Amino acid sequence: MRTGPDGVKGYNAGAMLLHWAIALAIFFQLAGGFAMMRLDVLPDGSRFAFFQWHKTVGLLVLTLTVARIAWRLLNPPPAHAPMKPWEAGAAHLVHGLFYALMLLVPLSGWLVVSASPTAIPTLLFLRESLVWPNLPIPAGWRGEGGEAVAATLHTWLAYSTLALLVLHVAGAVKHSVLDRQASFSRMIPAGHLPRQSTALLAIPLSAGLAALVLGGGLGLGRAETAGASPTLAATAETPVAAPEAGAWVVDKAASSLSYEVPFSGKPMTGTIGSWNAAIRFDPDRLDAAKATLDIDAASITVGDPFVRSSAPGPDGLDAAAHPTLSVAIDSVERTEGGFLGKGSVTIKGRSAPVSVPFTFTPGADGSAHVTGSATLDRLAFDLGAKNDPAAQWLGREITIRFDWKAARAGTPGV
Ligand code: HEM
Repeated sequence: MRTGPDGVKGYNAGAMLLHWAIALAIFFQLAGGFAMMRLDVLPDGSRFAFFQWHKTVGLLVLTLTVARIAWRLLNPPPAHAPMKPWEAGAAHLVHGLFYALMLLVPLSGWLVVSASPTAIPTLLFLRESLVWPNLPIPAGWRGEGGEAVAATLHTWLAYSTLALLVLHVAGAVKHSVLDRQASFSRMIPAGHLPRQSTALLAIPLSAGLAALVLGGGLGLGRAETAGASPTLAATAETPVAAPEAGAWVVDKAASSLSYEVPFSGKPMTGTIGSWNAAIRFDPDRLDAAKATLDIDAASITVGDPFVRSSAPGPDGLDAAAHPTLSVAIDSVERTEGGFLGKGSVTIKGRSAPVSVPFTFTPGADGSAHVTGSATLDRLAFDLGAKNDPAAQWLGREITIRFDWKAARAGTPGV
């Protein structure tokens, strides 16, 4: 095997690949972590997604570091050009601390998320199917206090990596530029140095360990969610009560009921699958108008996986304890553009007044097209009050929209 000046060889391809992949990821994490926590530079609404990418890339650093350590054990670094003993000692110390931090920084970040009282899941690559578990920490550590301690630890460890990075690069530059030794070039793929040979067992071992970390984490995450809070799933259609005389029957197949709420800077939509409306309405007899709408809480779909995971639980709709949401409109008045219904909404046992502007367009066949919307403040119903009380990610205003085709009760076919 050929060697460079003083018999110095470069690292092998596997060591270089892992070194630069981890270096790039750490650089992204440090710059990104600083930007998301300390600067106001991230575009509106992207901070939440950035946080999620921070978690994904950080966990990849953890995985790659495990692979790198296995690689290094089987492929010890090629000898460096002769150094003074204190320099060799300093280099060993810096490298040792680096490996410790490459494990401890992601682990402490994972601890922050696990101690957090909010129920924001860790989804690798933001994919709902790739759930990462929380660390099994004692229940007493979970909460704002535990989260703050872990965050302080994570921050200190992360910025220690930055300090170490400065020392690491300074050392490489000193050896390369001042001492004119092969140092930097040992880790550069395009370098002229011959490379150390590869212990082939390191390939399956490193890849296998990385797969074990990722696969094990994802397997535990999946098991954790499977046994977690009940999911919102569409239930059987709510039985329709017999319509009163003079009432309208909504043709559900030709109608829609949905909602929208801003989440992470974008509108998040969802559908309401199972509901039952009882309506009495005559534009010429507004004093007798009234309507009720009963919604099956379990039939509500949530458009975003991060919100979806906490929607069924106690901080969400809590469908197990409160299976029905209801709207009661008891007065209707005419407005410039149509009509305004007034009444109340009840969600999770909490009621609040609601105003529903709507249009009513009679059809030639005796049917009617009714469209309208209503806006609710989610905090009035204790929705997401624990997870996001300040509406940092999930907006407070929920807009419910309906577009219904209705026919007078008793009309054949409805
Ligand atoms: C090499 C890996 C990582 C590096 C270099 C890194 C770096 C950083 C940095 C520089 C900050 C900003 C600290 C501040 O200025 O306040 C930060 C914050 C944060 N990181 Fe990481 N991180 C890594 C991995 C992770 C992982 C794996 C997770 C979670 C799974 C995570 C979760 C967090 C959280 C939740 C915060 C906000 C902490 C707070 O609320 O103060 N990080 N990280």
